[in-house]
Amino acid sequence: MRISIIVAVAANGVIGRDNDLVWRLRDDMKFFSETTRGHVVITGRKNYESIPEKFRPLPHRTNIVVTRNAAYEAPGAQVVHSLEAALEVASATGAAEAFIIGGGEIYRQSLERGNVDRVLLTHVEAEPEGDTFFDLTVVSAGWNRSSHGRSEADDRNQYAFEIAEYTRS
Ligand SMILES: NC(=O)c1ccc[n+]([C@@H]2O[C@H](COP(=O)([O-])OP(=O)(O)OC[C@H]3O[C@@H](n4cnc5c(N)ncnc54)[C@H](OP(=O)(O)O)[C@@H]3O)[C@@H](O)[C@H]2O)c1
Repeated sequence: MRISIIVAVAANGVIGRDNDLVWRLRDDMKFFSETTRGHVVITGRKNYESIPEKFRPLPHRTNIVVTRNAAYEAPGAQVVHSLEAALEVASATGAAEAFIIGGGEIYRQSLERGNVDRVLLTHVEAEPEGDTFFDLTVVSAGWNRSSHGRSEADDRNQYAFEIAEYTRS
């Protein structure tokens, strides 16, 4: 099973604030939605709760929520208590690919484990204030980079952004 991270990161490393996103990028959302559709998504409990209730679990995807809370319930999603368990559950579904969809803690731990095969990283051309970060230096060495193209800021997208794909070299 391929393990992919999908994340949008500002130039200063910010990915979120007050358990929410810090931008409106409709075309990046569309990319996220189309890319992860039909696959498994693995999310930290905080990121899961940041998704508006009417949109969760994310439809047409197996949703796996990671929490240390043994009593946690997320109707329609699978709840697990470690990242290892999340990957085991994902693999047991027979999925060809699992997407780690955040947030900051889950990204960091996944990259520390060293078994992430690719990172789909939207570079957002902004430096907003935030309280949750993704370490951009992790993909600066030892990864091959290709681009899925750049979008200018417009009425759909608050900031310009480029979607890059990093695979291990
Ligand atoms: N820009 C982007 O692409 C993007 C994507 C996703 C999220 N975000 C942003 O990221 C922020 C949320 O990230 P976050 O770092 O605060 O939280 P998070 O990673 O979403 O969730 C953290 C929680 O996951 C659980 N957890 C973490 N490690 C675990 C482990 N090893 N075993 C079991 N459970 C574990 C814990 O849940 P319990 O406390 O329940 O035990 C922990 O409190 C939000 O602002 C969100 O908008 C941004």
